[in-house]
Amino acid sequence: MQANIVVLPGDGIGPEVAAAAVSVLKEVARRHGHEFRFEERDIGGIAIDRHGNPLPDATLQACKDADAVLLGAVGGPKWSDPNAKVRPEQGLLAMRKGLGLYANLRPVKPHPAALDASPIKPHLLTGVDIVVVRELTGGIYFGEKTRSADGASDLCSYSVAEIERVLRHAFRLARERRGFLVSVDKANVLETSRLWRDIANRIGREEFPDVRLEHQLIDSMTMHLLAKPREYDVIVTENMFGDILTDEASMLAGSLGLLPSASLGEGKVGVYEPIHGSAPDIAGKGIANPYATILSTAMLLRHSLGLEAEAACIERAVDAALNAKAFTGDLGGKLSTGEAAQAVIAHLPADCYVAELRD
Ligand code: NAD
Ligand code: IPM
Ligand code: MN
Repeated sequence: MQANIVVLPGDGIGPEVAAAAVSVLKEVARRHGHEFRFEERDIGGIAIDRHGNPLPDATLQACKDADAVLLGAVGGPKWSDPNAKVRPEQGLLAMRKGLGLYANLRPVKPHPAALDASPIKPHLLTGVDIVVVRELTGGIYFGEKTRSADGASDLCSYSVAEIERVLRHAFRLARERRGFLVSVDKANVLETSRLWRDIANRIGREEFPDVRLEHQLIDSMTMHLLAKPREYDVIVTENMFGDILTDEASMLAGSLGLLPSASLGEGKVGVYEPIHGSAPDIAGKGIANPYATILSTAMLLRHSLGLEAEAACIERAVDAALNAKAFTGDLGGKLSTGEAAQAVIAHLPADCYVAELRD
């Protein structure tokens, strides 16, 4: 098939992990006879430097016209002055909003070969298989902001429709998986959470009676996630809780560099990115872990291009590379970013190619 993929390398380690992931995608395309066109665009700090805008119109338009978007990361100390007029992160948020990507899927599945990298006891980690569905275009991130000499405010607001659509997405996913959904909120304090909980109960009762629904408060959830991670299947939560909970969840897998994500909406175009940031502390050294971004390309193939066999190829190759201890520094290894990508390519399963020819 032919597909147009917009690549947004961004800042810091973004270009390093994006290049690694593109090298894997190119190899998969070659083997399966696909024609992927890669179009690079600016976002984040580099876009501020080059265009004075963290999301130039041409970037957003290219994303809208694409079949899928692959993003590295944005941000860094150069643009982090709290008084700066414009920030790299605004570009990312505007892109998510502009593309209507309200559901951010963040799978967490610790790999048996990397259990030592996790600070959590290994016996708690075996069998952990969670997907966090993070609401991505609402809540406190997008509410009105004010700043005066006396103080500042960020409004957290959600419409019924915004809550319904992301909850339905999570319920459907739970139904396809193990039929268990935990909705995380702060309903003991926040009105938006009480609305969220009401809607979750109604949708669960009326549309998904086969899915077991539980509610958990965000504070205790952060504890349960580490104490009994195996008990969870799909977790759904609002924007900021989901942001924080998934960086915590990355410690189950052992590194932020292992968690991919897919941001989906009503349109066909999705954005695929690692959950980590631009990692200024290791940027430019060529030592960042590319697996989160490579695994994000598997999600891209599955969700935006419908190429399930190819997606599985990449996931199996990462699995095999990890089994072979092809580790970057964050996992206790010595491989460079490029070497880790090469290890994935070397472990692309031969039978994927054959299976595809048979289809
Ligand atoms: P970060 O995720 O960039 O880094 C946190 C820690 O994890 C660092 O020690 C870093 O070295 C390590 N790490 C992250 N990714 C890694 C990888 N692939 N391989 C090995 N180690 C990795 O978080 P931060 O330091 O809080 O934020 C830095 C900048 O990134 C900020 O400007 C922030 O706004 C931005 N950010 C961007 C995104 C995004 O573009 N989606 C996400 C998170 C943070
Ligand atoms: C993420 C990041 C972003 C977020 C920032 C950079 C705006 O932390 O993708 O998880 O908070 O959504
Ligand atoms: Mn984050």
